[in-house]
Amino acid sequence: MGASQSLTPTADTFNYKVVRQFTIMTVVWGIVGMAVGVLIAAQLIWPSLNFDIPWLTYGRLRPLHTNAVIFAFGGSALFATSYYVVQRTCQVRLLSDKLAAFTFWGWQAVIVAAAITLPLGITTSKEYAELEWPIDILITLVWVAYAVVFFGTIVKRKTRHIYVANWFFGAYILTIALLHIVNNMELPATLWKSYSAYAGVQDAMVQWWYGHNAVGFFLTTSFLGMMYYFVPKQAERPIYSYRLSIVHFWALNFTYMWAGPHHLQYTALPDWAQSLGMVFSLILLAPSWGGMINGIMTLSGAWHKLRTDPILKFLVVALSFYGMSTFEGSMMSIKTVNGLSHYTDWTIGHVHSGALGWVAMITIGSLYYMVPRLFGQKEMYSTRAIELHFWIATGGVVLYIAAMWIAGVMQGLMWRAVQPDGTLTYTFVESVKATYPFYVIRLAGGLCFLGGMFLMAWNVFRTAYGKPTFEAVIPQSLPATATSH
Ligand code: HEM
Ligand code: HEM
Repeated sequence: MGASQSLTPTADTFNYKVVRQFTIMTVVWGIVGMAVGVLIAAQLIWPSLNFDIPWLTYGRLRPLHTNAVIFAFGGSALFATSYYVVQRTCQVRLLSDKLAAFTFWGWQAVIVAAAITLPLGITTSKEYAELEWPIDILITLVWVAYAVVFFGTIVKRKTRHIYVANWFFGAYILTIALLHIVNNMELPATLWKSYSAYAGVQDAMVQWWYGHNAVGFFLTTSFLGMMYYFVPKQAERPIYSYRLSIVHFWALNFTYMWAGPHHLQYTALPDWAQSLGMVFSLILLAPSWGGMINGIMTLSGAWHKLRTDPILKFLVVALSFYGMSTFEGSMMSIKTVNGLSHYTDWTIGHVHSGALGWVAMITIGSLYYMVPRLFGQKEMYSTRAIELHFWIATGGVVLYIAAMWIAGVMQGLMWRAVQPDGTLTYTFVESVKATYPFYVIRLAGGLCFLGGMFLMAWNVFRTAYGKPTFEAVIPQSLPATATSH
């Protein structure tokens, strides 16, 4: 379809209100979740920071951190960007303002419920699915509403074509619904206590089928949707290869589903299932890098922009971390490598190479693109602050993951070192002691990243409260990305 078929510009064409709400909460929850991350990083150095108060102990705050950064920060960012992208590329308003508002308030209620119950020690104990059954039901309701709004908007689109970013968002919405329902099959015992419907190794397998696909769809496929819209927009270039986007979409989604057993290497899970997980994880490298290459090559012919445009720097560095963490993940799924890395801080380094380097950086870049447009400004209040944010965030990630790589490999080697007579060379506590310097470096990296988030909050605030220079809600024309392939 051609740009000539653009809409009659009316002031109420798009629902930007819900996008603004989710955008602001992304920054707020980013600061909260990362501040908890910094606190637990400090607790690992100074145990006295547990304060002898049960709610503030490491064991309760750790799931609070993971839930806050993944579901509150990441989730709000995904609601914001998917609602923005689906409206812009379909050239219609969201299907229903009321349902969209329900998803906003419902999701915030889920987050607040998590922030209360997790420190109280109310948990199912399933990693990334800790929330108890009443909250699970609320999540299901919000998610169904989200699916109705998103797919309903696609159905009523004014464009013939469904832009590729929407496929990625769509796959993530459908898959998360499936994962959430299957993994949270549980028998309630009381209002705040339930028992999993599965037992033993089946429970472990269902949990890691969920856990891995939470990474695959909540932290990857969805953020690729972000990439497919914001990278071409900011680079002002069409996506490098439309064909590659189709191939890597199907290959990525199909392969991710089978890789979960790599979390259960050398456990009671049957050996063939462990090997299957390893093989699919190795295959997964190809579609992962297909996506990364498609994003990075979109800049061909526009490389010079990287020197001056800090938003593009965020987006491209995010893609580099995406490439790096997926390569690392594929390697860590090889049984012999996993024998060394499992239980060590190497896994934590891998997680944050993906979570900070990829998820947070692509989110920050996309938000810097979106915020001025949402608040009727030509650009962010301070471009220099974005540049500074970029450098401290990048420095922070590098400090974090380099420290964890060294600590992780060191721990793995110390644990397996044996004397000629077969006794262990090191006690466990010696490995903990040797890790301290690296925990300090990780804390410094975390503080840098958190500092960058505060700078972002200030910049977003100044932009939002600046005098609007144009009407925020009038579509300018069909997005270039929707027509060029
Ligand atoms: C200032 C930034 C951050 C700091 C200082 C931080 C710190 C930490 C710490 C100390 C842990 C526990 C490590 C351990 O058990 O030994 C952790 C775990 C985790 N964090 Fe972060 N984090 C930050 C940002 C993020 C972000 C943005 C995400 C996701 C988008 C994230 C996702 C996770 C996950 C998934 C785990 C659990 C890893 C596992 O179980 O293997 N973190 N973080
Ligand atoms: C090709 C892609 C990837 C593969 C094959 C892969 C593979 C792996 C492997 C083998 C582990 C270690 C399991 C263990 O020893 O316990 C792991 C852990 C993890 N990975 Fe990845 N990874 C990939 C991409 C990513 C990305 C992009 C992210 C984040 C955005 C991520 C987040 C995580 C998390 C959160 C864990 C820790 C899970 C836990 O134990 O709590 N991974 N991954």
